[in-house]
Amino acid sequence: MLYITPSIKSTIDKVMHLVEYRQGLTTIVADVGHGKSTVIRHLWNELSKNKEVSLASVLTPNFPSDFAMLKAICGEYGLAPRRGMLAQESAFKDFLANLDAEGKTAVILIDEAQRLTGKQLELIRVMLNFETPKYKLVQIVLAGQLELKYKLLDASKKALRSRIFAPSNLSPLSPAEMRRVIEFRCLKAGSLNPFTDEALQAIYNLTSGVPRDVLTICQILWAAAAKEGVDEIPAEWVEPIVKEAVLHA
Ligand SMILES: Nc1ncnc2c1ncn2[C@@H]1O[C@H](COP(=O)(O)OP(=O)(O)OP(=O)(O)O)[C@@H](O)[C@H]1O
Ligand SMILES: [Mg+2]
Repeated sequence: MLYITPSIKSTIDKVMHLVEYRQGLTTIVADVGHGKSTVIRHLWNELSKNKEVSLASVLTPNFPSDFAMLKAICGEYGLAPRRGMLAQESAFKDFLANLDAEGKTAVILIDEAQRLTGKQLELIRVMLNFETPKYKLVQIVLAGQLELKYKLLDASKKALRSRIFAPSNLSPLSPAEMRRVIEFRCLKAGSLNPFTDEALQAIYNLTSGVPRDVLTICQILWAAAAKEGVDEIPAEWVEPIVKEAVLHA
């Protein structure tokens, strides 16, 4: 259900380039509800069609340690847990070298990456040291909220930060993009866009184009329209209905 905006297209292109040229690490940073998890799912679907890619994902990192995280990633690739960090790293390195020998590369998609601890980010740096003189053996996409950016900007993360290839931001929707996302969603649901131009403007004023807020508000209004049995939603509906349905101060 992803509508590909220019900002999302550019993000996807960067990730595909990262994978094709084995550049190692990229980041997708955006505020809550801007579409990061949806983009990660789309990337998963696209990359799983690529025969040269061996995919793993970490969708909600909440590992107690860097060792636990490495074991979980190795587990995604079917590798057995080892007793210690060094043995686990070495097993992963051998796995990556074997993949490379087959002309393949490992891609790890990590969502909610703002949750990674300093040690877990350090593990990512270590994994990026698994390389040939020309390219990296593992490609990592970190998607996270703004806190991820602040973590990476910390002086202690300079070495990791310097390895980031073409970072992405997901911007809020413009008014025209918001209209297209709504029309796209309506089309998928088998109906026409019921919102008048003024209603769309009112939705934009309330949401500033944040996708999750736009879709939540539209769903509330769709439900109200269905209840009333009308097929056009006017601007006057937007504020009162949304105020009633959404938690606010
Ligand atoms: N371009 C888009 N086209 C269609 N739907 C979108 C688009 N971008 C976001 N959405 C929708 O907006 C909602 C929020 O997106 P998502 O959960 O991916 O955001 P997020 O950035 O991961 O948020 P969080 O930081 O809270 O994890 C979802 O319902 C998603 O389907
Ligand atoms: Mg998310």
